[in-house]
Amino acid sequence: MPGTDALSRLQSTGQYALELEAVSRHFGALVALADVNLTVKAGERRAVLGSNGAGKTTLFNAITGDFPTTTGRVRLFGEDVTDMPSHERIRRGLRRTYQISLLFNGLSVLDNTFLACRGVTRGRFSLRRPKRDDSSLELAESLLEAVHLDDVKDKPVAELSYGQQRQLEIALALSGAPRLILFDEPAAGLSPTERTLLVDILQSLPEHIGYIIIEHDMDVALKVAESVTMMHNGRIFKEGTPEEIENDSEVQELYLGHGGDGHG
Ligand SMILES: Nc1ncnc2c1ncn2[C@@H]1O[C@H](COP(=O)(O)OP(=O)(O)O)[C@@H](O)[C@H]1O
Ligand SMILES: [Mg+2]
Repeated sequence: MPGTDALSRLQSTGQYALELEAVSRHFGALVALADVNLTVKAGERRAVLGSNGAGKTTLFNAITGDFPTTTGRVRLFGEDVTDMPSHERIRRGLRRTYQISLLFNGLSVLDNTFLACRGVTRGRFSLRRPKRDDSSLELAESLLEAVHLDDVKDKPVAELSYGQQRQLEIALALSGAPRLILFDEPAAGLSPTERTLLVDILQSLPEHIGYIIIEHDMDVALKVAESVTMMHNGRIFKEGTPEEIENDSEVQELYLGHGGDGHG
């Protein structure tokens, strides 16, 4: 499978999917990200934990280019993208899911996915429905199978449950040729059954696709990530395996200590 070859090639050249070098982001006097250094290998699956306001979403904005960084460099697959707009980063295989739904509500599940496969971005409105070509349709159907939505593919998106809409967001992120996907709290608001399904979907992604998932449910993080970055006050506070992070006394202090409600 070509993806696997790509992965071994990247790893043999020592290339990273992502390198952040001294990245910071200020909002006026507020330092949302402070001197963050982070590397993620091709195909790696990483969880980012941290309380509300720790800087997790700002980290994603810095990676995608949705917000420019104040200082530092961002490299994707060895290439410096710091000064590139988002769409140039997307062309290089970066994807992101949002918590706010950006789906076409009036269209069916399959049509939404088909449009994504045809390269129609969700931000752009097209009055003319493109003709269905076979390869995009086939790809769309296989993506819907991967996210367990094949049995509702003809329903309008508006009729999906919240959890199913999140699954569809993942299918859309998988269209094109993603190499690194950023998931911002995909488990938030899901029922226990939908959470189990999400874990299954993430675990079943092709292995050349790496991701970073913002997730504060340690049970979910343990199951879907091989490495964990813990953020606090805009800085990287700790890095390790999920087990190391879970058993770290400073992390426990931060999560369970005074204040107590710090999950975010
Ligand atoms: N667009 C913005 N304008 C001003 N402050 C912001 C903006 N985005 C985030 N912040 C601030 O940056 C800090 C980090 O926010 P964020 O990255 O959203 O945290 P997290 O995702 O970890 O909860 C917070 O103090 C937040 O209020
Ligand atoms: Mg956030």
